[in-house]
Amino acid sequence: MLTARIAVIASGGGTNLQALIDARGRGELKSGQIALVIADKAGVKAIDRANAAGIACMVIPRREPEFEEKVLSALAEHNIDMVILAGFLGIFSGGFIRKFHGPVINIHPALIPSFCGKGFYGLRVHQAALDYGVKVTGATVHYASEVVDGGKIILQKAVDVLPGDTPEILQRRVMEQAEWVLLPQAAELVSAQIIREKESNI
Ligand code: GAR
Repeated sequence: MLTARIAVIASGGGTNLQALIDARGRGELKSGQIALVIADKAGVKAIDRANAAGIACMVIPRREPEFEEKVLSALAEHNIDMVILAGFLGIFSGGFIRKFHGPVINIHPALIPSFCGKGFYGLRVHQAALDYGVKVTGATVHYASEVVDGGKIILQKAVDVLPGDTPEILQRRVMEQAEWVLLPQAAELVSAQIIREKESNI
């Protein structure tokens, strides 16, 4: 079966990467296969997860010069059709998004357009939601564009904020109830679209 070749770029724990690997294992992500994992830092858990799943993995440090060019050549080398930013804590330039020929999608741990943009990543997003006092937050999967967290939304899911929540508790609930569900669903939607386009070009 024709599948879209996916590269996942991660910066840390890689639980969203794991959700994609598990969804592929269960047959829920059937139109796309994870062909490459790029970690932007050595020693992060995402690398162990890729190795354990037998997925090609490379480290390209984000702070190195020409980081984006190195990522682009890795994507070309591995014939990647689509990029998933799964807990990637850097920001790709508009140039990167334009130079890569396929879709780049990102998971953000809030309901965009709330608590997003530059400086909103990881636990800071949940801290901001708690400081504001919102009673509902969630996660968003969207296309990456030259505007940080600004591309078109693909899927969103709301999650309740509960009394006594800390950023860590809220982060875990948003992951369990929204991120790990939405990201594989969005990966399947976009992969299926890529395959339809490939088939119409045959
Ligand atoms: C996730 O909550 C993800 O949504 C968030 O970082 C965490 C990474 O966890 N991403 C951002 O904040 C991007 N702006 P993971 O490495 O375990 O998937």
